[in-house]
Amino acid sequence: MVPHALLVAFPLQGHINPMMQLAWKLVSHGFLVTFLNSDSNHNRILKANTPNSLHDNIRMISVPFEFPVMDTLEGIANGMEALGKDMGPSVIDRVVREINARNEENKLTCIIADAWMCFGLQSVATLHKIPLAAFHTALTSFFAIYYFSPSLVSLGILASDGTPKKDKTVKFHSSMPALHSGDLPWLWAGEYMFRKGIRMAEEVKHIKWVLFNSFLEIEVPLVETLSKEVGVYPIGPLIPPEFLHSRTSTKVLPSFWKNDTECLQWLDKHYAHSVIYISFGSITVLSEKQVEELAMGMEATRRPFLWLLRPDLMKGSEAILPADFLERVRDRGCIVSWAPQLEVLSHPSIACFVTHCGWNSVQESITIGVPMLCWPYFADQFLNRTYVIDVWKLGLPLNANSEGIIEKGEFVKGLEILLESEQGLEIREEARKLKIIAFWSHCFVSGLSLSCREGPCFVSFCLL
Ligand code: UDX
Repeated sequence: MVPHALLVAFPLQGHINPMMQLAWKLVSHGFLVTFLNSDSNHNRILKANTPNSLHDNIRMISVPFEFPVMDTLEGIANGMEALGKDMGPSVIDRVVREINARNEENKLTCIIADAWMCFGLQSVATLHKIPLAAFHTALTSFFAIYYFSPSLVSLGILASDGTPKKDKTVKFHSSMPALHSGDLPWLWAGEYMFRKGIRMAEEVKHIKWVLFNSFLEIEVPLVETLSKEVGVYPIGPLIPPEFLHSRTSTKVLPSFWKNDTECLQWLDKHYAHSVIYISFGSITVLSEKQVEELAMGMEATRRPFLWLLRPDLMKGSEAILPADFLERVRDRGCIVSWAPQLEVLSHPSIACFVTHCGWNSVQESITIGVPMLCWPYFADQFLNRTYVIDVWKLGLPLNANSEGIIEKGEFVKGLEILLESEQGLEIREEARKLKIIAFWSHCFVSGLSLSCREGPCFVSFCLL
């Protein structure tokens, strides 16, 4: 019998990408994968990607759902609740039945759902007599923050709505770095996300297999602590190995925007370690003033740069660049709306990454050995920055002024330190060392068939 996994992705680009990387990994272990998405994302993906660019053994299916506008606190809560209904347990139950009815020979042997999509799914898996695994797409510490939060509320460190009570920093566990109290991941969305995160951790801790899109070596003390209480399996880095050798791959991530591959030829024209890569992932929105300061900063550096400027990067309008900017940087600037980021990062010409610190971008950068200038926007990104700068020493911060804007001079200064100073040399050396560790971690986890280092193998678990 061929193992057949139903993958339930949270319907955002930053969650779909690691879920797809997991799908590739499973396929390389002989699995058949059915990848469940929301209709709206499914259609965007079909529109932006060539139809047969995915693996033959990965089947994409979808159910009706589109996030309602989430630009108010109420909108966020409504959107998350609608998701829990439209892609929740009764829908997944129906999907499982339909798949099994169509595939008498290859019925589903397991469900792997995004940790934020697991609510009520254990009963569906039990009903169909197949195992359930949760897949947490962010850093293990992000999960741990929600996991340990109830005890911080009991101790009076956090108020019951998640507001920090006393201190300037909050330490969730001795195995984790302290977080600035303004950097807590739910603050952008208030009490609703705090409560939802705690519920997610509570739900997930009862699931036998909790797969993390992270790797052991970067969070050893925390993983050791957590695994005494939760079935923690860091199975990363999931990035296909070809990218670790600066090679292109046939494995494409199903993006919402059309990939501009011409920027790779543009990169070919540049010296090794010369190009600044700038990208803010799939959600970040910047103000016109911020885009202007960044553009002026890039102009002032006099270095080549590749800037991923999504069509919706600026709220309410196409990105507005300073007058004649494109003309002035014509010889050394390349601006595209979406690019194959793994291929870009692994291109030899890339010197550093100006990043919003989304976990995928950070882990991709770590795995490929690219140092970072960090500019977090929301959610887990402040936590990721803390790790990148304070724990792993792989980058530098970009600091905003009193109006929340990162000024032109801050970019110039950050890039000079990172690319020209003694401190920058040390950071680049750390990036090189961690890349090697990530590579061995990758080989080790692959070799053990997706199991953690010891104990039973995840693949054989799916066959049970
Ligand atoms: C979101 C959250 O913002 C992030 O904090 C969380 O950890 C995951 O979900 P996003 O903001 O999109 O993700 O950032 P990130 O996690 O970096 O994911 C973006 C993905 O899109 C990466 O896999 C990146 O390689 C890819 N990408 C980005 C491209 O392929 N091309 C691009 O032009 C830009």
